[in-house]
Amino acid sequence: MKASETKATLSFSNGGQNVELPIYKGTMGPDVIDIRKLYAQTGMFTYDPGFMSTASCESAITYIDGDKGELLYRGYPIEQLATNCDFLETCHLLLYGELPNGDQKKNFTKLVTNHTMVNEQMQFFLRGFRRDAHPMAIMTGLVGAMSAFYHDSTDINNPKHREIAAIRLIAKMPTLVAMAYKYTVGQPYMYPKNELSYAGNFLHMMFATPCEEYKVSPVLERALDRIFILHADHEQNASTSTVRLCGSSGTNPFAAIAAGVACLWGPAHGGANEAALNMLYDIQKAGGVEKIGEFIKQVKDKNSNVKLMGFGHRVYKNYDPRAKLMQETCREVLGELGLENDPLFKLAMALEKIALEDEYFVSRKLYPNVDFYSGIVQRAIGIPVPLFTAIFALARTVGWIAQLNEMIGDPDYKIGRPRQLFEGSAKRDVKPISQR
Ligand code: CMC
Repeated sequence: MKASETKATLSFSNGGQNVELPIYKGTMGPDVIDIRKLYAQTGMFTYDPGFMSTASCESAITYIDGDKGELLYRGYPIEQLATNCDFLETCHLLLYGELPNGDQKKNFTKLVTNHTMVNEQMQFFLRGFRRDAHPMAIMTGLVGAMSAFYHDSTDINNPKHREIAAIRLIAKMPTLVAMAYKYTVGQPYMYPKNELSYAGNFLHMMFATPCEEYKVSPVLERALDRIFILHADHEQNASTSTVRLCGSSGTNPFAAIAAGVACLWGPAHGGANEAALNMLYDIQKAGGVEKIGEFIKQVKDKNSNVKLMGFGHRVYKNYDPRAKLMQETCREVLGELGLENDPLFKLAMALEKIALEDEYFVSRKLYPNVDFYSGIVQRAIGIPVPLFTAIFALARTVGWIAQLNEMIGDPDYKIGRPRQLFEGSAKRDVKPISQR
C-alpha cells in the first residue's frame, strides 16, 4: 500500500485526544483511511452497515468507476475484453494477472478441458433433490459437495491445492449447471465434449440428447461466451465478499465458493436477472407497453415494495457498461433467431426509455444494469428462467476464486470478524420459570 503524505485527524467534541490516521492511495479510485488501530487507540469501532464507505481489502483484480460507468479487469476495459477475447482468456487474466499468449492459451484450455467431467457419483447425490428444486438450491448443494469428492484439493493454505481446485471449479461448473437442468427436465445427462469451446460445450450439455446431435450456433456460442465474460468478476460485491469472509476461516475452496453461490441467489444480487424477466412477463400479461406507466407509478410508490428489476446499482451511478454490451448481444441473438420483433425485448426497450427520462430514476442515478438484458438473451437461447442465476454463478466462479486466492496469498490476511454496536439488554439475571 502506498501511504499518502496527507493524514486524517479524528477529533472529539468532548475534548478527547485527537487521533491521526494514515491514508493510502490506490492506483485509481478513492483513497482509504486506515482505521485498523482505531479501537486500540480510542476504544471505539466504526459503524458502517452495508459497507457504504468501507474498503474491506486491498485488491488488484477488478476496478469499477461507478460515476463514469467503467469496468476494468486487471486494467483492461470490459468492452475490449468482450470484443477481442474469449471467456477462457478472461479466466487466465483474472487468475494469473495477464492475458495468455498463444501457447499459454492452448495450455490453459487443455488444463480446463481435462477437468470437465465430474465424479460419476455426483449424479446420485443430485438424485436426492426433488425434480422441481430451484437450480440454485441444487447448485449450492453440488458445489459444496465437491469438497467431498476432491479430497486432494481442499487445503486452502496449499497453493497447489488452490490451483487444482480453481481449475476444477471453472471446468466443472458448466457440467454441474447442465446436469441440474437435465435433472429437472428428466433428460439424461450429456457428458462434456472437449473439442468444443467452453461456451459451446455448455450449450451441448444443455441442449443435446443421446438421440439427437446438437449443432452449436456460433452466434449463440459467442453470446453465451460474452455473458460469461461480463459476469466473470465485479470487485467486492456481496457474493465475492461472502466468499472472502467464508474463506478467511480457512475452510476449503469448494465450501467458500458454495457460500458465494448461496449469496448470489438473492434477487438484489444475481437473482435479479430472473426477477427482471419475470417482471417483464408480468407487465406483458397485464397489457404490455400500455401498462408501463401504471407499473412505473407502483415502482415510485415507497409502500408498494415494487422495484424496477435490472435497474440501479450500488456502485454504478451511470449506465452499467455491461448492460450496453448485453443490449448489443441481445439484438444479435434475436436477429439470428428471427425474433427481432420479440415483444419482451420491445417492452424492455420501451421501459428503459421511459425510466431513463423519468425524474425519479434520473435524480437517483438509476440506470439499467447487466441483468436488464441478459435475461432476454438467455431466454432466446432457450435457457429456462430459473437457470439464469446458476449461469451467473458459473461465470462468476472464476472471479470468486481469483479474489479468494488473492486474499489467501496475502501473508497479512486475517479471519474476517466485524464488530457491532450492541443495543440489546444490558446484563441481567435469569429468573426461575415461575417468576418470568
Ligand atoms: N427501482 C426503484 N427504485 C430503486 C431501485 C429500483 N431498481 N434501485 C434503487 N432504488 C431507489 C431506492 O428506493 C432509493 O430511493 P430513496 O432514496 O428514495 O429511498 C434509492 O433508489 C437508492 O437506492 P438504494 O436501495 O439505497 O441503493 P443500494 O445501493 O442499496 O441498492 C440495488 C442497489 C442494486 C440493490 C438496488 O438498486 C436494487 O434493488 N435494484 C434492483 C435489483 C437489481 O437489479 N439488482 C442487480 C444488481 S446488478 C447485478 C449484480 O451485480 O448482482
